[in-house]
This record gives sequence, structure tokens and C-alpha cells, in this order.
Amino acid sequence: MEYAIYLETAVSLARRAGNLIRESFGGEFEKGFKSCPSDLVTEVDRRSEELITDGIGKSFPGHTIIGEESEKQARAGSGGFTWFVDPLDGTTNFVYGIPFFAVSIGLARDFEMVAGVVFDPLRNECFCAIKNGGAFLNGKPVRVDLTRGSFADSLIVTGYPSNKAFNKRLLKVDYHKIIEGCANLRALGSAALELAYVACGRLTGFWENTLRPWDVAAGSLLVEEAGGTVTDTEGNKLTLEGYPSIAATNGLIHKELLKTLSA
Ligand code: IPD
Ligand code: CA
Ligand code: CA
Repeated sequence: MEYAIYLETAVSLARRAGNLIRESFGGEFEKGFKSCPSDLVTEVDRRSEELITDGIGKSFPGHTIIGEESEKQARAGSGGFTWFVDPLDGTTNFVYGIPFFAVSIGLARDFEMVAGVVFDPLRNECFCAIKNGGAFLNGKPVRVDLTRGSFADSLIVTGYPSNKAFNKRLLKVDYHKIIEGCANLRALGSAALELAYVACGRLTGFWENTLRPWDVAAGSLLVEEAGGTVTDTEGNKLTLEGYPSIAATNGLIHKELLKTLSA
């Protein structure tokens, strides 16, 4: 398959970075913050990113790399191949000792996602997908959950920005209406892993406002390749630029989720 060589490299780097994260979890590491005190970063985020971007750079020197911690941020190159790297998605969980975080690496060609991996190092769960090649968990095909066809039956997940400046976007959402309408609402703290959970059918749908391209690049391909639907929160095509707001579901409940979000 055309993109297999890229996916192989991404999986191998995600596993190596994941090992580093797993060995550091629960131990001592340097911590700091970025935009505000709740927007955490650690030396583990930076070391993981260095490992991944060095590996991609050596294997594919002509490709553009957009890594969360490298500050070259969010310009999706000028076409060609662009890698989106979130070296540790779920840093707040990682810092507080909550075992739910992942490494996320996605590859776009001419602005379309073509390969992606989300690796959960604590559970050794490796979710990956290639454009038109399906989605897999540890090598086995996965599908979104098609047994839940209504919003009322759905387990929905969302997230809240670490950067307090974005909190006003939350005011646009009627959380009461959502919680009333669906089976239940979660916020697990790693957008990439939440998307992977939608892809393999553990969750029915996900939305979050004001993310960054590296949060959603790999996970959005996982959901699509698992048979689900991905758009922005207004139902338009998701673009991997700026601050994407994403809705990703099993497809069956997509319209209902968008309608409830817009109400
Ligand atoms: C965060 C996580 C979280 C989401 C935040 C993101 P980070 O990424 O994906 O689930 O709610 O908006 O910033 O900072 O842990 O890589
Ligand atoms: Ca992230
Ligand atoms: Ca991160």
C-alpha cells in the first residue's frame, strides 16, 4: 500500500516515544506552563517530540513537520507531505497521575490525511489507519459502533481547553441539553485517544472546540477509516489549520450531535 512505509515509521516512533512516556509516568520530571498556568508542559513532552521529529526528519528529509512543542506551529506547509506531531496528548492527565494519554502522529498529503497512529503506552494499544486502508487496533480491524443509532443511546465525549483564553467558546454550548439528550457525557482528557475510542466503538461521538491540528490529525483519519463521520462543529469539512473545532461520530448520530451543539 502506497503509504505503508510512512505508517511503519510513524508506528515505530510512536512506540519509542510511548516507552519514554511510560517510564517517566509517576516519576520526577520538570514541569512548566505555556499560555497560562493550566496549560502544562513537561520535559517528557519535549523529549518525546525531539525523538519523533528527529526520526521523521532522518527518514523523510523533504517533509514538513508541525510539532506541538517546536513552535513552528500550524502552517500546513505548501502541500506535499506534512506531519502533525502531538508528542504527549493528555499532558494534564500525565502530570496529575491519571493513566490516560497518548502519542499522536498524523501525515497529510496535499492537506488530506493519509496515515495516522495514536499510541496508548500504558495499555499498549496502537491505533492506526491509512487512507482507504481501514483502521486497526494492534493489527486487528476496528469499526465505529453501529449498534447505537440515536443520540439518546450515545456515550459522548468532549474536552475543555487548557488555554483559559479559549473558555468563552464553551459558553456557546448548552451542556445541560447535551447531557439530557445523550446516554452520558465524558471528558477523558486526551483528544487523540478519545478519537481512537470513537473509531473502535468504545465511544459513540466526540466534539471539542478550539483544538490544534496535531490533536486531531491522526484521530480524524482513524474515525473516517473506521466508517465514522468527521466534520467541524458546523458540519463543514474539517481543516487542519489554526484552531479546529471537531465533531466525530459513528455517522448515525452525526446530524443529531451537530443539531444539539447548535441549539
Ligand atoms: C489537550 C488534550 C485535551 C484537550 C485539550 C488539549 P495536550 O492536549 O487533547 O483532551 O481537551 O484541548 O489541549 O495539551 O494534552 O497535548
Ligand atoms: Ca494535544
Ligand atoms: Ca501535547
